[in-house]
Amino acid sequence: MIPKMQILIFLTILSIRTLAQGTSDNLKYVDPLIGSANGGNVFPGATLPYGMAKAVADVDSGSRQGGFTTENGNVTGFSTLHDSGTGGSPSLGNFAFFPYASCPGDELNRCIFPKISRKIPYRAESVSAIPAAEMTTTQHTSLFRFRFPSSGNGTQSPLILLDLTDLNDSRQDNATISVDANTGRMTGSARFLPSFGSGTWVGYFCADFTNANIRDNGIFANSRASADVKTLTISRSINGYPLPGGGFIRFTSNPPDGILARIGVSLVSSEQACASAEAEIPGFDFDEVHQTAENAWREKLSPITLSTAGVGESLITNFYSGIYRTMVNPQNYTGENPLWQSDEPYFDSFYCLWDSFRSQLPFLTILDPTSLTEMIRSLIDTYDHEGWLPDCRMSLCKGFTQGGSNADIVLVDGYIKGLSDGINWQKGYEAVVKDAEVEPYDWSNEGRGGLDSWKSLGYIPTEDFDYKGFGTMTRSISRTLEYSYNDFCIAQLANELGGKESDVEKYLERSNNWRNVFKADQKSFLFNGTDTGFTGFFQGRYQNGTWHTQDPLRCSNIDQNQAGCSLTRNDAETFESSTWEYGFFVPGDQAALISLYGGPSSFIKRLNYIHDMNITYIGNEPSFLTVFQYHYAGRPALSAVRSHFYIPRYFSPTNAGLPGNDDSGAMGSFVAMAMMGLFPNPGQNVYLIMPPFFESVSIKSPLTGKTAVIRNINFDPNYEAIYIQSATLNGEPYPKNWIDHSFFTEGKELVLTLGRNESSWGTRVVDLPPSLSEYMGFPGTNGTPLSPHKLSSGCGPEPVTERSGQYLELMTNTFTTRLHRLSTCIAHGLF
Ligand SMILES: *[C@@H]1O[C@H](CO)[C@@H](O)[C@H](O)[C@H]1NC(C)=O
Ligand SMILES: *[C@@H]1O[C@H](CO)[C@@H](O)[C@H](O)[C@H]1NC(C)=O
Ligand SMILES: *[C@@H]1O[C@H](CO)[C@@H](O)[C@H](O)[C@H]1NC(C)=O
Ligand SMILES: *[C@@H]1O[C@H](CO)[C@@H](O)[C@H](O)[C@H]1NC(C)=O
Ligand SMILES: *[C@@H]1O[C@H](CO)[C@@H](O)[C@H](O)[C@H]1NC(C)=O
Ligand SMILES: *[C@@H]1O[C@H](CO)[C@@H](O)[C@H](O)[C@H]1NC(C)=O
Ligand SMILES: *[C@@H]1O[C@H](CO)[C@@H](O)[C@H](O)[C@H]1NC(C)=O
Ligand SMILES: *[C@@H]1O[C@H](CO)[C@@H](O)[C@H](O)[C@H]1NC(C)=O
Ligand SMILES: *[C@@H]1O[C@H](CO)[C@@H](O)[C@H](O)[C@H]1NC(C)=O
Repeated sequence: MIPKMQILIFLTILSIRTLAQGTSDNLKYVDPLIGSANGGNVFPGATLPYGMAKAVADVDSGSRQGGFTTENGNVTGFSTLHDSGTGGSPSLGNFAFFPYASCPGDELNRCIFPKISRKIPYRAESVSAIPAAEMTTTQHTSLFRFRFPSSGNGTQSPLILLDLTDLNDSRQDNATISVDANTGRMTGSARFLPSFGSGTWVGYFCADFTNANIRDNGIFANSRASADVKTLTISRSINGYPLPGGGFIRFTSNPPDGILARIGVSLVSSEQACASAEAEIPGFDFDEVHQTAENAWREKLSPITLSTAGVGESLITNFYSGIYRTMVNPQNYTGENPLWQSDEPYFDSFYCLWDSFRSQLPFLTILDPTSLTEMIRSLIDTYDHEGWLPDCRMSLCKGFTQGGSNADIVLVDGYIKGLSDGINWQKGYEAVVKDAEVEPYDWSNEGRGGLDSWKSLGYIPTEDFDYKGFGTMTRSISRTLEYSYNDFCIAQLANELGGKESDVEKYLERSNNWRNVFKADQKSFLFNGTDTGFTGFFQGRYQNGTWHTQDPLRCSNIDQNQAGCSLTRNDAETFESSTWEYGFFVPGDQAALISLYGGPSSFIKRLNYIHDMNITYIGNEPSFLTVFQYHYAGRPALSAVRSHFYIPRYFSPTNAGLPGNDDSGAMGSFVAMAMMGLFPNPGQNVYLIMPPFFESVSIKSPLTGKTAVIRNINFDPNYEAIYIQSATLNGEPYPKNWIDHSFFTEGKELVLTLGRNESSWGTRVVDLPPSLSEYMGFPGTNGTPLSPHKLSSGCGPEPVTERSGQYLELMTNTFTTRLHRLSTCIAHGLF
């Protein structure tokens, strides 16, 4: 019999409780276990901000995408590469260690080597994000401290094995390992599959051990090991499970302060992995490495401070933990990219931009613009060398594109918020134009499909005829909506860069293509047959213009039959969301959408309906903006009400507290930005204003050193007074319900006076956020189009007079006029 051992895991990173109480240290509010159960899929281990080395215990539970979960799985090893919050297959989890206090009867072969049989339960109560971390990391290196129970008779001979495996068992042929007999150093490499993408990638490692004398070492293959063999090259074999293989080392004693195992990782070579490990953790000084990691996080979290009067610790923890998760991914692989030679930074694990363009990367323009600048440079450099901006990228491979070419939005958001340091914006422009103009052969992995139809018909047809490029021929509705907004963003960049008037016109024109898939007479019935009472929804359209019909509730949160809303052949015409929810995805022209839905009060009714009826799924990113779109209809108070409805009810600071996959920190950024009272409409220089969840929030711009403050007067920690009555900006009355990025860079002060009732603040048309078209049909306008702010002389498309759904025709008829009007817009600086 093999003695059962339980593993005590001390995850980790942060000596939270050991920090001096009462300091203004934000790190003590970070709980990395939030989202470690219930499908949050977060990486709950040790890492630096954007670190490549991410150390954690791996388990065998069904949602081990981030390595470890608090769902009582069994520990299969302790590995170093991970992603955070992702869907798809479990990601990375490479080069796990596994420790034994000794082999039964001191026989090497009675230690269990294969992952499938060696796994053991962990003691739930030992999992804690508190201190005495037994894993800590630098940029490319993990340091594990394994302490073994003492047998009392001094005969123990601890063994640590290193496994040539990953979480999802994707290892391909010819993995290798060599063990140095004298030093015990293990080096090697193996090829793996990316978890949501195409191709393969190779990882390298270099492991060293210290604190006890070496007894022997060698390799294992399958269930057998030998100290006589020091190198191994192993096949994947044929059984769908890569053959167990790796190295082991045994020690002559069990030191009370544990054995230290250091593993450097690289995507270039074992030599580079060794060099990183030696440079980053030369002396195996656990406490020093740990302290350095903490300091790095403390520094990253320091720009945002709160006045927390009256607010419980749980909300503060929710806030800072959300912020923390925005900086776990993407990962900084600068110097680790074997694919091309370049002096530019290289970031990976953009997983996926479809998730992170909405608020995570916009949040980093505020909190960490220097890092975001490097990420944008990396995206542009990826375009430069691989020919396309990624939409998703992991482990040096192209990830799958979910809808539009959303790097376009990321770039434009960065540009209009003033990021510049070293970014080649002309090349960035070239890259987004290529997305809009050139169809890739394989648009599952990059760019956009159906561009011939897009240009000639003005929409992506359902069952398109496309012989130039190939991808899953679905999502015609959501792709039309996303491409439209991508083009809106490109038009802005063209306008800002200057000298590109015809491009501005072209892309603004195409940004209106969403109108072509609006079917004015489409009704929607609940699944019990009751008419929702709403008419007019986006629908797919064939090439001949005939409508395709998809139940507007398909793929919504209340659709019981959720099969087929992703990337499989025959899936829906919307991606991971319903036509109801996609029905609000016109971020550049909310005014036109409001008109189309029959004016602001019908728009509000519809928006309320998707939230009240649980149609929207707050656990997935398309829902984010719908929480705040009330601002555009002149009811900013309702955005505040909605955000308090969702936070903390659906986003709570507990292990199971996230409503869906964190998606590399996308959910974290939603919490952070909603709670700080400013939510972005990404790709535009717009933040929608709500009262922060705290009395005040101060944000020091890392670029300018100036501090922006958003402060509530009459702050009510019970959140009954969440209605802005009036506002001032730097002491002057501020009636607009949105603000731009200069708030942060120039360190302005926004003071919100709160009350218990909705007020008229931020409700007038002149106070609404910018929109391509004019706002119409608002109270007091008697149906006559108003000139919105900035648009003084007939800027914007022709008023939509008729809700016939014949927008294709409408556009063609008014083409000349509209072009003229759009030029007027540009002249008036719409953007
Ligand atoms: C963990 O292992 C135990 C014993 O082998 C098994 O009963 C249990 O189902 C495993 N847990 C999971 C999540 O696989
Ligand atoms: C202690 O020593 C005895 C005899 O030498 C051995 O049988 C036993 O397995 C050891 N205990 C442990 C936990 O290794
Ligand atoms: C693995 O190594 C064998 C023996 O050297 C070689 O024949 C084979 O092509 C290799 N496989 C791959 C995928 O490189
Ligand atoms: C992950 O493992 C599952 C189960 O074996 C398999 O179906 C899937 O294709 C794997 N994914 C990758 C990316 O290897
Ligand atoms: C990324 O890594 C490179 C190389 O180690 C380093 O110079 C750079 O500062 C890092 N960037 C960020 C944002 O951490
Ligand atoms: C259908 O469901 C709606 C919403 O739950 C409810 O209001 C309505 O009464 C139901 N209708 C029938 C016929 O059951
Ligand atoms: C248009 O194409 C669709 C799909 O092929 C077809 O079902 C429909 O009958 C066509 N409509 C007309 C008017 O030809
Ligand atoms: C929406 O979901 C919540 C919680 O899941 C539930 O309490 C509520 O009754 C649902 N509302 C409707 C209209 O189905
Ligand atoms: C606020 O609204 C409540 C009812 O919702 C009303 O009783 C109260 O008088 C209002 N307060 C003010 C100051 O208007």
